[in-house]
Amino acid sequence: MQADSFDVLQTVLKQRSGLAVTAEKSYLLESRLMPVTRKWRVKGLDDLVALVRSKSDERLLTDITEAMTTNESSFFRDGLPFEQFKSIVLPALMQRRSADKHLRIWCAGASTGQEPYSLAMTLREERARLQDWTVEILSTDLSTEVLGKAEAGLYTQFEVQRGLPITYLVKYFTQLGDKWELAGDIRQMVTHQPFNLLDDPTPLGRFDVVFCRNVLPYFDRPGRAAVLGKIAALIPADGVLFLGDNEAVLGITDRFKPAGGYRGIFQPQSASAGAAQTAAAASQAG
Ligand SMILES: C[S@@+](CC[C@H](N)C(=O)[O-])C[C@H]1O[C@@H](n2cnc3c(N)ncnc32)[C@H](O)[C@@H]1O
Repeated sequence: MQADSFDVLQTVLKQRSGLAVTAEKSYLLESRLMPVTRKWRVKGLDDLVALVRSKSDERLLTDITEAMTTNESSFFRDGLPFEQFKSIVLPALMQRRSADKHLRIWCAGASTGQEPYSLAMTLREERARLQDWTVEILSTDLSTEVLGKAEAGLYTQFEVQRGLPITYLVKYFTQLGDKWELAGDIRQMVTHQPFNLLDDPTPLGRFDVVFCRNVLPYFDRPGRAAVLGKIAALIPADGVLFLGDNEAVLGITDRFKPAGGYRGIFQPQSASAGAAQTAAAASQAG
C-alpha cells in the first residue's frame, strides 16, 4: 500500500470511529479490508482508496469502518464485573432508587450482545427482588452488523461455551439447528440502537450504570478522554462506569475516579472536583 493510501484510510477511520491506526499496525488494514476490496471489486487497498477518492460513497466508508472494528465479546466476560454488578452495584442502587424503582443501564460498544444479555440474565435471576422495578438496558454499537446479530440472539456452540454457566444455557437458550437461541423474554429486556461514541450521547438520557468495556483501547488518548467526558455527563454522582480489565482513567480524564477500590469500576466526579484534584496533584508534584 502506498503511503498516501495509508494516510487516507487512517483519516477515514479516525474521523468515523475514533480508531487510531498507527503505521506499525498498517498490516491490520491489509488483512481486515480484503473482504471490502472483494465486495467493491477492486484489486487492493490502493484501488480501494482510489474509489474512496472518486466516489466518496457513504456505504463504502461504512464498510471500511465496520470492517476495522474488533467485535470480540463473550458472555460474562472476565466474570468479576458481573459479580460486582450483582452483589455491590445493584443492591446499592436499589436502595438509593427505592422511591422511583427505575434503573437505566447502557452498554456502549456492546458488539454482538453477550454483554447486555449477561446483564439481562443477571437481572432475571434477581427478579424476586426487582418486582415492581423498571430496568432498562440500552445496547449500542457503531456497527449495524453486530447489532443485527445481537438483536437476533442466535449464538454458536463456541460462543455459548465461552463464559456462559451451563445452568443459564439450559434455562435461557433453546437449540435451533447448529445455533442456540436466547429466550425471547431475555431478548426483550434489551433495546438495541446504533450509536457512534464520537457523537453527542445526551439524547440517550441519563444512566445509573454504564458498561463501556474493551472499547476505549481503540481510541487514542484524547479520543478516550473525549468519550469518557461525554459518558460522565450522563451519569449521576452515585452512578457507576464499568471499564474493561486493565483499562484506566488515570492520566486520561479527571471526570471519573476509581470507585471504592473495586477494579474496573469508576464513579463520576464533577468537572470542578476533577480540576481541583488535578491542580492539587500538580502542585504536590511541583
Ligand atoms: C471488543 S468489542 C467489546 C464488546 C463488549 N463491550 C465486551 O467487552 O465484550 C468493541 C466494540 O466497540 C465498537 N466500537 C468501536 N468504535 C466505536 C465507536 N466509535 N462508537 C461505538 N462503538 C464503537 C466496535 O464496533 C465493537 O463492537
